Amino acid sequence: MPSDPGGAVPAPSAPRRVGAVVSRLGTWLRPVLPRLVLGGLGALGASLLALAVPQVLRWVVNGPLIGGGNLSAVVAAAGLVALLGVLEAFLVWTRRALIASPGTTAEREMRTALFDHLLDLPIAFHDRWAGGQLLSRSMSDLSMLRRWMVFGLVMLVVSATTVVVGVVLMLSTSWPLGLVYLTGAVPVIWLGFRFREDYKVIARRARDQAGDLATTVEESVHGIRVLKAFGRGEDALEEFAQQADELRGTEIVKARTLSRVTFALGTVPEVVLALTLGLGVWLAARGAADLGDLVAFFATAAVVNAPVERLGQLLAMTMDARAAADRFFEVMDTEPALTDPAHPLPVPPAPPGGSRVELSGVHLRFGAQQPGARDVLDGLDLVVEPGETLALVGLTGSGKSSLLGLVPRLMDVTAGSVRIDGVDVRDLRRADVRAMVAIAFEDPVLFSAPVAENVLLGVRGLGEDEALVRAEQALAVASADFVADLPQGIATVIGEEGLSLSGGQRQRVALARAIAARPRVLVLDDPLSALDVSTEAVVTQRLRSMLAGTTTLVVAHRPSTVALADRVAVLEDGRITGVGRHSELLATHPHYRYVLTALAAEHAEPAR
Ligand SMILES: Nc1ncnc2c1ncn2[C@@H]1O[C@H](COP(=O)(O)OP(=O)(O)O)[C@@H](O)[C@H]1O
Ligand SMILES: [Mg+2]
Repeated sequence: MPSDPGGAVPAPSAPRRVGAVVSRLGTWLRPVLPRLVLGGLGALGASLLALAVPQVLRWVVNGPLIGGGNLSAVVAAAGLVALLGVLEAFLVWTRRALIASPGTTAEREMRTALFDHLLDLPIAFHDRWAGGQLLSRSMSDLSMLRRWMVFGLVMLVVSATTVVVGVVLMLSTSWPLGLVYLTGAVPVIWLGFRFREDYKVIARRARDQAGDLATTVEESVHGIRVLKAFGRGEDALEEFAQQADELRGTEIVKARTLSRVTFALGTVPEVVLALTLGLGVWLAARGAADLGDLVAFFATAAVVNAPVERLGQLLAMTMDARAAADRFFEVMDTEPALTDPAHPLPVPPAPPGGSRVELSGVHLRFGAQQPGARDVLDGLDLVVEPGETLALVGLTGSGKSSLLGLVPRLMDVTAGSVRIDGVDVRDLRRADVRAMVAIAFEDPVLFSAPVAENVLLGVRGLGEDEALVRAEQALAVASADFVADLPQGIATVIGEEGLSLSGGQRQRVALARAIAARPRVLVLDDPLSALDVSTEAVVTQRLRSMLAGTTTLVVAHRPSTVALADRVAVLEDGRITGVGRHSELLATHPHYRYVLTALAAEHAEPAR
C-alpha cells in the first residue's frame, strides 16, 4: 500500500540543478517572460530606490546639516525621501499587478500539458502509477511552481542584486567598514549551502508523502462501497491517520530546519553590523570618517540585511519548487510507448461493404524485458471480413481482451501486424485509428456527467439536436430503455463512474457509447456479461439488425449470443485454433465445447 513511497512511485530521478529546472521550465516561462521581467524590474526598482534613500541622507548630513542648517535644503531632501518612498510603493504594486497573470497562465499551460501527456501514456503506465501521485503532481506541485516562478524566482534575483549593489555602495561609502561587513558573507554562504542540502531531501519527501496521502483518499473514496460492505472503514481511517501523521512529521522537520537557518541568517548580519558600528564610532571619534558617511552606511546596511534574512525563506521555496518540478518532469519524461508515426499514412477510404480487419503473425508479450515473460498471443492470425460479426471465444485469461486492445491501438503488437483496410494501424495517426474503431469494455467506465454526454464521448462535429438523436438511437440499439425512466431521462447526471446504475445498466450505456460513434469497426469485450440471458438475446438481435455492414469483433461466452455471430473464432494457447459457424465448431472442435461449458459454469453465479 502507498505508505511506502518507493512502492507507489517509481524511484525519483536524480534532482535537477535549479538552472536546469529553469531552462526546462523555459517552454512555459517564455510566453509570459515580458510581463515577468517587467514585474521583476518593478521589484528591483523598488529595492534600488530603498538603497537611494541613505545616499540622500548622506548628502543632507554632510552638506546642509553640518554646514549650518540650510532649512530649505533639508526640506527639499525630506521631500525627495518622501517621493522616493511613494515611488517605491508604486513599484511594489506594479510587481504584484504585472505578475499575477503570467503565473496563472503558465500554471494552466503546464497543467494542460501534463494532462495531455497523461492521456497519451499507455495503459501500463497507469497500472504502475498511483492516482494520488498524479493528482498531487498536477495540482499542488504545479501551484507550488507557479508561486515560485512569480515570487521565489523573481525575489531571488532581486534580493541578490540588492545585496550586491548595497555592498558596493557600502564599500564606496567607507571601505574599512564595508570590508568588515563583508566578512559576514562567509558564514551566510556556508549556512545557505548546508541548509540547501538538508532541505532539498525533506522537501521531496514531503511532496511524495502528500501524493501518497492523496492516493489513499482517492482509493478509499473509489472503493467506499467495498470498505463499508466489509467493515474496513476503521482500517482505512487508521492507515490514513498514520500517513497524515507521517506527513505532519516531515512538515515539522521542514519547518524546524527552516526556522533554524532563518535564525542563523538573521543573527549573522546583526552581529557584523554591531561590529561595524563599533568600528565606525571609533573611526568617527578619531575624525577618520564623516558623520554623513556613517549614517548612509548603516542605513544601507539596514536595507541589505532584510534580503539576507529572507534568504532562508527564498531558498526553502526554491527547494520546494525544485522538488515539485522534478515530480512534474518525472511524469512528463515518461515516453509514451505509443506514438504517432513520423510520416502517418492517410486514412484508407471506407469500403462500401465494410472494413476488413486482419491480424497476421501477431505476438504480444507483457513486460517483454522481464525474464520468464511469455507471449500471451503467440503468432496469431485472424481476419474479420467486411461487415461480418465475428465472435471470439476463449477461456478466461486466454488473451481475448488483449487481442481486442490491439485493434484501436491501445497497445502495440510485440511482433506481427494489425491492419484495417490494408493499412497497419501503427502507420496511422492514433486519433485516426480511434475514429475508425470504437470499443466497449467489459468493465464499463462512465463519467459523472449526463447520460447523453457519456454516450456521445466518441462523437464529434454534430449539432446539439443531431447529437441527441444519435444518442437516443444508440441507447435504443443497446436496449437501454431504463434511461427513459431516470429522473431527467437522457439528461440525468449519473454518479461518479456511474455507480448509481446497476452493472447491466452501465454496460448498456457503454455499449451505446461505442455504437453512437458509428465506427467502421466495432470491438466489444463481452459487453453484455452483466445482463440476464433474455435481455442479452434482445440486445444481440437489435445489434445484428442495426449494425449490418459494421464489421464487429465481439467477445462472448453464451451459446445463444455466439450462435448469432456470422462466424466464431476460438482462441487457445495464444492462437486461433478454429474458425467457423457455431454449429460447425460444436460438432468438430472439442476445445470449443469445453470452453463454452467452462464459461457457462463460471458465469453461473447470479447476475450482478
Ligand atoms: N497490463 C498487463 N500486464 C501484464 N499482464 C497482463 C496485462 N493485461 C493482461 N495480462 C495478462 O495477459 C493474459 C491475458 O489477459 P486478458 O487478455 O485479459 O485475457 P481474457 O480477456 O481472455 O480473460 C492474462 O494472463 C493476464 O494476466
Ligand atoms: Mg477479458
